[in-house]
Amino acid sequence: MRCIVTGGAGFLGSHLTERLVAMGHSVVVIDDMFRGKKKNVEGCKGMPDYYLMMGDAANRDIYEKASDKMGGVDCIFHLAAINGTRWFHERPDFVIQVNLDTLRTALDFAKVRGARFVFTSSPEAFGEQPEMPLRNDSESLFSAAEKHGRHSYGASKYLGEILVQHAVKEHSLDARIVRPFNGYGPRLPGDSYGQVTGIFLKQCHTGETITIHGDGEQTRSFTWVEDIVEGIQMAGELDQGIDGSNLAGAAFNLGSAEEISITDLAQICLEITGSNSEIEFQEVGHPGDSQRRLPDLSTSELMLGWSANVSLRQGIESCWRWQKAEQR
Ligand SMILES: NC(=O)c1ccc[n+]([C@@H]2O[C@H](COP(=O)([O-])OP(=O)(O)OC[C@H]3O[C@@H](n4cnc5c(N)ncnc54)[C@H](O)[C@@H]3O)[C@@H](O)[C@H]2O)c1
Repeated sequence: MRCIVTGGAGFLGSHLTERLVAMGHSVVVIDDMFRGKKKNVEGCKGMPDYYLMMGDAANRDIYEKASDKMGGVDCIFHLAAINGTRWFHERPDFVIQVNLDTLRTALDFAKVRGARFVFTSSPEAFGEQPEMPLRNDSESLFSAAEKHGRHSYGASKYLGEILVQHAVKEHSLDARIVRPFNGYGPRLPGDSYGQVTGIFLKQCHTGETITIHGDGEQTRSFTWVEDIVEGIQMAGELDQGIDGSNLAGAAFNLGSAEEISITDLAQICLEITGSNSEIEFQEVGHPGDSQRRLPDLSTSELMLGWSANVSLRQGIESCWRWQKAEQR
């Protein structure tokens, strides 16, 4: 396949790119390096049929150039977005703009070229839906906009799914949707704009206090990065589901069935790293943070034959080895 991966120098995108290149696919990465890093895709440098294009995925011209490099495009994996909870609160305007503008440009290009499309949505597209597990027909529930900007991200993913479904129905686009559930692994940002697993492991490494927002009872389904990118790759590569179903318009939750509280995650990080960091609970949690996030996996299992394989302990151990090597 000739693939474009937007956001391909980011956390998930770089692992996906490595996987696609290793499988012999041609890949052009489009990334403006807002949070991506050249270092993330260093392993692909010099590989035949791999190219990195630094630029804005909301700009149509860059897709033309990417396609020219490969003599056409078969599949666009759209991962470019503003991710990281702090951004959702601080710059909701920017989050909405980037997430929707990049998607619309990528979708339009796929429509014109007849390329397959994989949209990376999120469980946050369901907002604060309390009923678990999250199914494809679960309703999205967002709190009043005057309260906070948190749902700039989730709502952009919700609107993104609407745009994708519209393109499938009205323009016969062969588009599929994936929803990663709290991916973690090497390269996950651990700075204050990062994600919880990266932040906790960094705090363990430096001996800083581990900060938990709220009471720590909120749960997540942390999912090993390689498991997630396998699901994304399959969603793009399969012509039809393994059960013979049409995949256009199908949506896949890519999450572990292992649900764990944030406090337990912190404990596991402490155990595995042997760190003496203290745990501190910050009373004010992230407003709009959902209490639970558990995937219904029936569609992913049935149509892709996908399920997560790596346990949280195995995954955290691998991350810790990476973190130590990285900061040596
Ligand atoms: N990591 C997860 O667990 C998770 C969960 C649900 C959904 N997602 C989605 O998966 C995708 C990848 O997430 P990630 O965790 O790797 O985040 P990330 O921030 O590491 O990757 C996003 C990439 O997009 C790039 N980007 C941002 N704006 C751009 C623009 N205008 N043009 C080109 N590139 C741009 C960034 O530089 C970055 O490299 C995102 O769409 C995210 O919303 C991720």
